[in-house]
Amino acid sequence: MKALISILFISLNTLLFSQEYNLPALPYSYASYEPSIDAQTMEIHHSKHHQAYVTNLNKALAGTKLATLSMNQLLMDASFRSDAIRNNTGGHYNHSLFWEILAPKDKQTSLVQEAFNEAVKAQYGSMDSLKKALTQAASTRFGSGWAWLIVTPDKKLMVTSTGNQDNPIMDVAKDRGIPVLGIDVWEHAYYLQYQNKRADYLSGIFNLIDWGIVSDKYAKALVDPLLSEIEKDNWMALKDFHKVMAQTFHPCEDGNFVPLRTRAGELLAKAILVSASKPPVSKDKPAVHKALANLEEQCEKIYELVEKNAKDEVLLKEMTKAHDLFHQVEELCHD
Ligand SMILES: [Fe+2]
Repeated sequence: MKALISILFISLNTLLFSQEYNLPALPYSYASYEPSIDAQTMEIHHSKHHQAYVTNLNKALAGTKLATLSMNQLLMDASFRSDAIRNNTGGHYNHSLFWEILAPKDKQTSLVQEAFNEAVKAQYGSMDSLKKALTQAASTRFGSGWAWLIVTPDKKLMVTSTGNQDNPIMDVAKDRGIPVLGIDVWEHAYYLQYQNKRADYLSGIFNLIDWGIVSDKYAKALVDPLLSEIEKDNWMALKDFHKVMAQTFHPCEDGNFVPLRTRAGELLAKAILVSASKPPVSKDKPAVHKALANLEEQCEKIYELVEKNAKDEVLLKEMTKAHDLFHQVEELCHD
C-alpha cells in the first residue's frame, strides 16, 4: 500500500510539475544576420538543429522524475545523466544563449556596463585581448564544441571551451561557471557559407556579438545563486559520495537491497574521503565538518550491519538516517 501511494505521488508530481521545453523565437529575421552569417545557415541552425535538441530533450524527459527538475539541475548533474539528456539539455541551453547574444550591427545595444569593461580591462587588458583569447579558444577546440566567456564561482571572468554540447555549468566541464557568452563552433554553424574556414567564421561572428547584452549577463551572473551551487558542486569528494549514496539508497526504497549489501564498504570509503577532504572556502565551517563526521559514523554503522547480515528493514531505517544526514550537509552548504 505504502509503495502504491509513493508511486501515485511520484506520478502526480511528475504530471503537475514537469515541463516541456520550446524553441525560443529568434529576435531578428534569418536574413538580418547577413553578411556575417547567411540566412540559410541561420534558418537550418535554428529551425532544424536547435529544434531537434528541444524535441529530443522533451522525448528523453517525458514521464520521468527528471522532468520536474530545472534546466540548471539537469545541467549540473550531467555526469549522472544519460547521453540523450546530457547532449540535448546542453544543445538547448547553449543555442538559446547563442541567439540571445547575437544581433545585427545596427540593432546592438550601445550601452556596455562599466563594471564589465573594468573586469575585462583588469583581467585581459583590453577588449581586443579578450577577443583574441576567445578566438584562440574557439579555433583550437578540436571537432565540435563551444568557446565560452564565463563568470567563475570566485566572480572572475574566464575564457574556456567545451566539446560537443557540454557547457561550463555541467559537472563534466574542466572550468566551471555561468556562461555570459558562447560561440558555437560546430560545422553546422558555418559550413554552408565558410566551408572549413572556421577562422573566417569567427571573424564574422565578432561583428554580431552584442557586448551590451553580454555585460548585462555578467551583472546578473555575479549575483546568481547558481555560482555558489557550482562552487559546492566542484567539491568532488561530496559529489562522489552523493553518487554512491543515490545508487544504494534509492534501490533500498524500492525494496532492492542488493546494491547496498554489495557496496556498503564503498559507501563508507566515500564517506571517509569526503569527511577528510577540504571543502570549498565558503563551505569550510565547523558545522559542515561536524555533519560530515556524523555522516561517516552513520555509514560505518551501516557497514557493520551489512557485515552482520542485518534485516532489510533495519538497513532501510539506518540508510534513511544517513540520507537525512547527507541532506543536512547539503543544506549547510546552501548558506
Ligand atoms: Fe549549433
